[in-house]
Amino acid sequence: MRHLIAPALVVVAAAACAAAAARPAPAPAAAPILPEAKDSSSYARPAEARVTHVSLDLTADFAARRLSGTATLDLSAAPDAREIVLDTKGLAVRSVADERGRPLPFAFGADDPALGAPLAVRLNGARRLRIAYQSAADAEALQWLAPEQTAGKRRPFLFSQGQPILNRSWIPTQDSPGIRQTWDARVVVPEPLTAVMSGARLTPRGEKAGPGRRAFRFRMDKPVAPYLIALAVGDLAFRELGPRTGVYAEPATIAAAAAELVDTEKMVAAAERLYGPYRWGRYDMIVLPPAFPYGGMENPTLTFLTPTFIAGDRSLVGLVAHELSHSWSGNLVTNAVWADSWLNEGVTSYFENRIMEALYGPGRAAQEAALSWADLESAFAELGRDSPGTRLHDPSGADSSGIVYDKGATFLRTIERTVGRARFDSWLRSYFDRHAFQPMTSERFLADLRSTLVGGDRDLERKLQLDRWVFEPGLPDNAARPDPNAFARVDSALAAFRGGGTASKVPYAGWTTAERLRFLNGLPRDLPQPRLAELDRALGLTGRNAETLFAWLQLALANRYEPAVPAAERFLLSQGRTKFVAPIFKTLMAEGDWANRSHGASTPRRARPITA
Ligand code: BES
Ligand code: ZN
Repeated sequence: MRHLIAPALVVVAAAACAAAAARPAPAPAAAPILPEAKDSSSYARPAEARVTHVSLDLTADFAARRLSGTATLDLSAAPDAREIVLDTKGLAVRSVADERGRPLPFAFGADDPALGAPLAVRLNGARRLRIAYQSAADAEALQWLAPEQTAGKRRPFLFSQGQPILNRSWIPTQDSPGIRQTWDARVVVPEPLTAVMSGARLTPRGEKAGPGRRAFRFRMDKPVAPYLIALAVGDLAFRELGPRTGVYAEPATIAAAAAELVDTEKMVAAAERLYGPYRWGRYDMIVLPPAFPYGGMENPTLTFLTPTFIAGDRSLVGLVAHELSHSWSGNLVTNAVWADSWLNEGVTSYFENRIMEALYGPGRAAQEAALSWADLESAFAELGRDSPGTRLHDPSGADSSGIVYDKGATFLRTIERTVGRARFDSWLRSYFDRHAFQPMTSERFLADLRSTLVGGDRDLERKLQLDRWVFEPGLPDNAARPDPNAFARVDSALAAFRGGGTASKVPYAGWTTAERLRFLNGLPRDLPQPRLAELDRALGLTGRNAETLFAWLQLALANRYEPAVPAAERFLLSQGRTKFVAPIFKTLMAEGDWANRSHGASTPRRARPITA
């Protein structure tokens, strides 16, 4: 049962569209709410009453897979505001009280499978609420891992993932990216585990909190979107990388993680030289157990990373440049609604490539930009050029093909090439400064561009096609194309192989990871077994690099190339990154039960635990 106490008063919590009649609340200086940005993914009605600060005091129960404790919310509300509406999902609320401990009436509205349930609290004049609650054992933001699912295999692990609308399953607050909040937290965990969060870590070693338990305290004193509150608990080691950078990981992973991340301090410096000060204090990272479903997540001061970026040669650190860039585009200037996620992901993908260029040179950056262009072409091929899903501003918010990343980056590259790099860079830098710690919409982005960069230049306005880029499907004809020579040597090797040349002539060993990916993804999708065997032998395709391994497995499995099955099985059992796992299962499904039969397995194969 979710509602532990029958509410004394039934407040009808209207759904997300009822704010119209409300009197505007005095806008807090630090974090305005944009009136034009109505968030259809939140029940909150911030014009009436809004959360400005969240203070958590939570205990992690690994056996019950629950966080329980209190959330104390500071509010800003119109003088006559009667209630505040929060977002919740599966939370069991025991009580709500004001600052003096007087109970406040509360009620849940109808539960929606995606949005959860609104929690309306009668304010009775209160401007601070204390909510006693616990999360559900299947809270969507929380992944509780058994010891076997970690790299070390001895201790359990917990991590949270808030983006886009999952944090309401462990924090009762207004879960909308346009409603920024400061926060602090105290988290009690069983010894010898360490808790880390996406804010200043006030007690690195923790404090004794009763028998067998330690408490860790954190603080974020800058207003952030609530999806950026994140927690990880596990057996963690820490390695310093530079004066303000470091990495956490399980002891089994820490050395490889630190070696892969040696350039992080330089990346932060390069990012600052490009687009202004890093405003979050430290930039640390945590390499999570391999079950982490994403490549990375830009949690402020503490990027979360998959271990699958560890290739041994730093060839996949574009991921780190990406998450670091979100410290500007995403965490500093934030999409007010998820329909504008291109403002986070597209601007970040452009920024990422600029960091890669600054650190590793224009050749590598040009190759990575060309791969992104190829991804964009495949997305168009898959969705159709006229499909509404190819718009940057996408009201469905359901980008499944990376459009907001690749088309967004191409949009910025197009503006850069049209106005010149120096002029574009100074605009983008000033954009981050002028909108720091504020929400952003497509309309505001374009208005800002027009008033500060285009400045009434009619010819430039016509050339840029700004509205087409943001609101129309497809690709405007002014799109900045990638360097046609970025992959010159790969493209000629591909042509030779297609023309019947042998795989042993392909100089694969001397290529960069981007070149190898270009080659593997450029091979004909239909290949006869002997040709696959030739490639397999000549190129040594089951090495340590997850990206090239994935590209090879996709090709091999689609062609039912049996010798690739054991490697595919190891790969699927060793990591949980959706980008790799989902397409491979799709390919296997499309091929029927072939992969199982090829093992001659008449009895079911015993599942092995996930390993690093
Ligand atoms: N913010 C995203 C991750 C995300 C997106 C989480 C949408 C939930 C919903 C993160 O910055 C990201 O884009 N990660 C990419 C890596 C990047 C190099 C393209 C990933 O996880 O693959
Ligand atoms: Zn991103």
